[in-house]
Amino acid sequence: MDNAKTILCIGAGYVGGPTMAVIADKCTDYKVIVVDLNKERIDGWNSDKLPIFEPGLDEVVKRARGRNLFFTTDVAASIKEASIIFVSVNTPTKTFGEGAGMAADLQYWEKTARAIIEHAEDDKIVIEKSTLPVKTAEAMHRILESNDKGLHFDVISNPEFMAEGTAVDDLRNPDRVLIGAMETERGQKALKRIVDIYSCWVPAEKIKTTNVWSSELSKLVANAMLAQRISSINSISALCEKTEAEINDVSDAIGMDSRIGAKFLKAGVGFGGSCFKKDILNLVYLCKHYGLPEVADYWEQVVKMNDFQETRFVRRVIKNMFNTVAGKKIALFGFAFKANTGDTREAPAIYISKMLLDEHASLSIYDPEALDNAKIDLADQEGDIEFVNDPYECAEDAHAILIITEWDEFKNYDYSKILKSMKKPAFIFDGRNILNHKELFELGFNVSPLGSPDMLNL
Ligand code: UDX
Ligand code: UDX
Repeated sequence: MDNAKTILCIGAGYVGGPTMAVIADKCTDYKVIVVDLNKERIDGWNSDKLPIFEPGLDEVVKRARGRNLFFTTDVAASIKEASIIFVSVNTPTKTFGEGAGMAADLQYWEKTARAIIEHAEDDKIVIEKSTLPVKTAEAMHRILESNDKGLHFDVISNPEFMAEGTAVDDLRNPDRVLIGAMETERGQKALKRIVDIYSCWVPAEKIKTTNVWSSELSKLVANAMLAQRISSINSISALCEKTEAEINDVSDAIGMDSRIGAKFLKAGVGFGGSCFKKDILNLVYLCKHYGLPEVADYWEQVVKMNDFQETRFVRRVIKNMFNTVAGKKIALFGFAFKANTGDTREAPAIYISKMLLDEHASLSIYDPEALDNAKIDLADQEGDIEFVNDPYECAEDAHAILIITEWDEFKNYDYSKILKSMKKPAFIFDGRNILNHKELFELGFNVSPLGSPDMLNL
């Protein structure tokens, strides 16, 4: 295999791993190497139990691994071998110095760029797969070109739009692939090589090419707009709880307008995940940096509304349970930030748990995939917390069940059996509106659907 068709991805996380697995699966004449500093992660990718849970991923990895897909920790050798390098290392929100709490922390990105310079022996195309602030490519280009080996690096922006839980489907059938390149002859040549990779399976009309800055900005804006829809509908759910309106009906009614569209209008306990909050704060920081405080305030409100939604949910739990949850067992059904993933980054469950622990509640937590991560997230919390592998055991002797994640299996439990095992009066707070509220109410539960009035048997 010639080096022009050897692809490397640095960062074997939720983005890098699945993306490269699908590229290897679809483009069998390319060799795809995925490298990560974290040996445990790489061992996971090379084992039968992949380090991330993603429907359909096991089969894709099994088909391609050892054929044209390889996972390794050998950064130096893999940089030497590949001519196309995707960088998918994490870019968390800065926790220190200027821009702390808002700007992106680019230290891993810069370290990676320096590793590329150190080990490269020929020209490379370097692709930003991580979400980065606008103009990062420019800085990266400068760092890469500062090498004293006379090597040239073309920096391309190719943000990933897949969502967790549906990553494999999203990667196989993307709405669009966005590729941004410098508007120079070299930049356009590099662009064509990346277009060629995606053309193995993505129709030409779905591959959109732009300049680097538009591509970088589009990623931030796509996430900000999606999150904005969620905050908008969540803000209305608060109003619905005070009136006779039902949020699901409002969502359906407005979503039937083809100009608005039905997707991303599901009210819930708030959005989580590694991207939305981080990317909006990043956008806010950029707007402030460019002297646009009104634009910054506008977008920051999306995050504030999300915080409000999480807090509001807990306040309702406390209020309905006679203004105290101290010493009461509360069962959390779901901890992942969304269904079909074990990922808990920025999960509303973390904030909800902490608020309930502050109120001295005893927590019992069940999630089909996310318990290991939940344990890590709550490791430094004082208070009474148990992690249980069985939902029925989780709810036993509980005063309330909180539905935090929209796992399908929650819909099919035997709730009359659950009710019998709970303390009375028994409460269900459906933070995702996935259960049959009327049925539960008739069984004897006190039901609080999100975004509609309480159904109390008291
Ligand atoms: C990451 C970013 O968080 C996101 O902004 C971007 O859009 C895509 O990449 P994700 O894949 O979910 O998303 O992150 P994570 O699961 O944390 O994976 C990053 C991996 O990079 C980790 O496995 C980490 O060990 C690895 N890494 C990090 C390196 O190999 N080298 C480094 O210097 C830093
Ligand atoms: C998101 C973007 O969708 C994806 O394009 C980008 O590449 C990464 O960030 P992800 O965070 O994996 O993907 O999941 P997503 O499906 O967008 O859900 C994010 C959060 O919003 C979850 O907590 C989810 O429960 C919540 N959500 C989503 C709602 O509360 N209501 C909705 O209608 C949709």
